[in-house]
Amino acid sequence: MKIKFVSADGANVTEADGKTGDRLLEIAQAHGQALEGTCEGQMACSTCHVIIAPEDFDKLPHASADEDDLLDLAAHVTRTSRLACQILLEESWDSLTVRIPPDAYDMQGR
Ligand code: FES
Repeated sequence: MKIKFVSADGANVTEADGKTGDRLLEIAQAHGQALEGTCEGQMACSTCHVIIAPEDFDKLPHASADEDDLLDLAAHVTRTSRLACQILLEESWDSLTVRIPPDAYDMQGR
């Protein structure tokens, strides 16, 4: 399946391929997206916050209560915000467009 990462300002689009079972956070990091993912998927940081395109949001399984609680603490949260470490891809989704929120930064602090 195709994944499109859109930078916070919309100026850069990066395309990636994913398959069932891939973790969205790992695909994003492998393609240079500015997502720190400090806790490596332990749901303790929210630095993997991404905004899913509204037309794709309903393809995803619902967030757990713990994920929702953590998202409440993230900056620039929207109705279609998710934690990328909690999203395991399904090829049946076909495509997914993911926007990186403003102020996201990676481990180099960029
Ligand atoms: Fe920490 Fe996703 S990497 S919550």
